Amino acid sequence: MEHKKLVKFPENFLWGSASAAYQVEGAHDIDGKGLSVWDNFVRISGKTFQGTNGDIAVDHYHRYKEDVALMAELGLKSYRFSIAWSRVLPNGRADEVNQAGLKFYSDLIDELLAHNIEPVVTIYHWDLPQALQDAYGGWESRQIIADFVSYTEVLFHAFKGRVKYWVSLNEQNIFTQLGWVLAVHPPGKRDMKTFYQVNHHANLANAAVINKFHELNIDGKIGPSFAYSPNYALDSHPLNVLAAENAEELFANFWMDVYCYGEYPLVALAYLRENGLMFEVADGDLELLKSAKPDFLGINYYQTSTNAWNPLDGGVGIGEMNTSGKKGSSGDNGIPGLYKKVANPFVKRTNWDWEIDPTGLRIGLRRIASRYRIPVMITENGLGEYDKLEDGQIHDDYRISYLSSHIKAIQEAMTDGVNVIGYHTWSYTDLLSWLNGYQKRYGFVYVNQDETMTGSLKRIPKDSYYWYQKVISSNGEVL
Ligand code: BG6
Repeated sequence: MEHKKLVKFPENFLWGSASAAYQVEGAHDIDGKGLSVWDNFVRISGKTFQGTNGDIAVDHYHRYKEDVALMAELGLKSYRFSIAWSRVLPNGRADEVNQAGLKFYSDLIDELLAHNIEPVVTIYHWDLPQALQDAYGGWESRQIIADFVSYTEVLFHAFKGRVKYWVSLNEQNIFTQLGWVLAVHPPGKRDMKTFYQVNHHANLANAAVINKFHELNIDGKIGPSFAYSPNYALDSHPLNVLAAENAEELFANFWMDVYCYGEYPLVALAYLRENGLMFEVADGDLELLKSAKPDFLGINYYQTSTNAWNPLDGGVGIGEMNTSGKKGSSGDNGIPGLYKKVANPFVKRTNWDWEIDPTGLRIGLRRIASRYRIPVMITENGLGEYDKLEDGQIHDDYRISYLSSHIKAIQEAMTDGVNVIGYHTWSYTDLLSWLNGYQKRYGFVYVNQDETMTGSLKRIPKDSYYWYQKVISSNGEVL
């Protein structure tokens, strides 16, 4: 649809930006914080780029006031950040609350509110307390559900009234696949069957927390954040179209249907049963999934996926994750009998081979609106690139063009009828990219930190910072 005129962004639109605890905070073992699975995983040789870790990260823990002051100058309406579970509950369990950890987040929230910035709190952004991994295998056990609910209750009680937007799980589809299929996130396993079981536990934990939030009648909204890469077919060959449908069922609807309908898609269940991958479902599980209703769906959007047919016999298998930062170096990957990923000939890609496709965001938003009729909050969108410091400045016009085209696509989707309540760029400051070190930069604010992890940590607003300032002050009129 080509519109003659685009709708305006509503006055209360959340123009925001985002981060995650492990990627920015640092202070990984002080003031009573327990270790997380990431604190340990990064210490395994070869797991991260040049052995980078988040021990110091960009030291947001000690510099949050400076960071919030720059957010205020930028004019941010909202800031999405995550809480490190093991900073609040060092052993993962609610019987021992680390008051100093809770205070850090309480002070951060107060600082944001004092500057009229809405806190959007992610409850879980991958840094599981190591104690729970050791005790029962973390997400591999159903025990995680009760512990996750107890943890969130601590947060709900501490921050209710001050925090209106809660994100339950960040990218369940990514942390489960990278942890149990590709072995590049903790616990570093390649075990398809366990992956599906872990994922089911995460669905239950997510549903239980959403129900808890609603039971407590807390003023605000809660929903999960899903990493959505809408699927395309390479062309109109029926088998390629089928491959794209397979990918959309198994890699998108498989999560979003559970969040929004409380049901797994039939095609996915048939595939799991046929391949001996079906997970165990206990009494009451399906009722729990059905009963939980998120208030919004968080969407993290970076790219689309283009698919072609991949035969059972001789097809391309699950490949390696490409973290080389060299354009064109991604290998083939797919699942025989389902799909294989191919390059989209119509779009450009980043140095990490992420396809740049603003229209894909519009398409994805429309699919969500049609299928689920749920408000969407964009919880992440951004461009990871090598930025260059030139005479004390960063001229990241490529980032401005990426963000601007994606905001325009959101406005088009809103004109199509989609309800989008906010937009959070990834990321606010530069930060640690889990597998790509500090060289893959996403922020509006450059931070002097690199692979040596001895940077001065000085903050420098990039050109994109000043550009976003105008976007916000014009409420999206000036892009
Ligand atoms: C999302 C995560 O998957 O993408 C972020 O929620 C992450 O934590 C971001 O940093 C970008 O990914 P990467 O691999 O480029 O750092």
